[in-house]
Amino acid sequence: MYSRKGYAPNSKDLNYKSGNSSEFQEGYTEQQQQQYTNHLKQLKTEFEQRWRKTPKFPIAFSELDRVKTLGTGAFGRVVLMKHTKSGKLFAMKVLEKEKIIKMKQVDHTLYEKRILEAIRFPFTVSMEFSFKDNSYIYFIMPFVPGGEMFTHLRRMGKFEEPLSKFYASQVLLALEYLHFCNLVYRDLKPENILIDRNGYLKITDFGFCKILQGRTWTLCGTPEYLAPELILSKGYGFSVDWWSFGVLLYEMNAGYPPFYANEPMKTYEKIVAGKYRCPSSFNADLRDLVRNVLQVDISKRYGVMKNGVMDYKNHKWFRGIVWDAILNCRIPPPFVPKYKNPGDTSNFERYDEEPIVPTSYCRYESEFLEF
Ligand SMILES: Nc1ncnc2c1ncn2[C@@H]1O[C@H](COP(=O)(O)OP(=O)(O)O)[C@@H](O)[C@H]1O
Ligand SMILES: [Mg+2]
Repeated sequence: MYSRKGYAPNSKDLNYKSGNSSEFQEGYTEQQQQQYTNHLKQLKTEFEQRWRKTPKFPIAFSELDRVKTLGTGAFGRVVLMKHTKSGKLFAMKVLEKEKIIKMKQVDHTLYEKRILEAIRFPFTVSMEFSFKDNSYIYFIMPFVPGGEMFTHLRRMGKFEEPLSKFYASQVLLALEYLHFCNLVYRDLKPENILIDRNGYLKITDFGFCKILQGRTWTLCGTPEYLAPELILSKGYGFSVDWWSFGVLLYEMNAGYPPFYANEPMKTYEKIVAGKYRCPSSFNADLRDLVRNVLQVDISKRYGVMKNGVMDYKNHKWFRGIVWDAILNCRIPPPFVPKYKNPGDTSNFERYDEEPIVPTSYCRYESEFLEF
């Protein structure tokens, strides 16, 4: 089931120069974290510069050909597109203005666009360019061909521990980066985590992500992954992402989420009570980690306590993870998805194709002026 072949680190991502000893060292020292924090400060400055800048587009929309639908969501669909001249492949998220308006998501969608344009991290997707026409908004991103973590998780049943550790370490670094840039993600789940052709992860879908100053109250996310403080309509902060991280840890290792019922209301009751059971396959270290993350009491939750992410980086379950080597994509991945030829979409589900036809007059021009 696992392949060690086909591993190709992306040279563009190999930009973090850590201290000489850290390449082989397990855990993470205060000194390494201090050095990494300086790197994060640089990344944050770059994020802020791009946040303020209007990007230029190298490609005209008309140069792209539609290939196939990769996914569908509440406001539109994501389609594989091919640049005719270069053969380059893109994933294009198509959002219908009317649906965005009806579901009161204009602000969220504007955030999604600006955040996608501004973030750059090895384990997150980012925007190549965007367009709008009379009816739709289009976000064009690099195509991540390995499919959703969700698909592979359901196919395999659950992940072997080395694979969940490998994935968890990347999600953790991505959350650390986003939070450092003051971004709360709010929709962590296997459906939004893609696997790249090198076997490393790319988090996609920044539809609920926003810059957070202080606290926020919006109810958004996916039932099984919602944090108790969010369900209880208390003001919340970055803690909600760490809770979802705990749910993800559990689901990767068990094959199903810790809080589940037939109706969302029942799921919420279980979440708020913080009651779940670990399968017997969970070892003591994993149980201990999950217990420290799925803490209803925020003051006891890993990720938001005074040691921040260091509680994770030095937890026993992550023993063996060389953080700087993960960041630089230097660890051979335990699993590499099959990708037979450029444009192979066999890692994605099949969807009915629907035409994308803009109206002849411009709809909601003023509402989408900033896009
Ligand atoms: N860059 C990408 N490369 C390949 N597939 C993608 C990409 N971005 C999104 N997808 C696919 O499209 C699906 C829907 O995209 P997403 O941004 O999550 O939309 P929604 O907000 O509707 O959930 C994803 O779950 C994934 O399967
Ligand atoms: Mg999604």
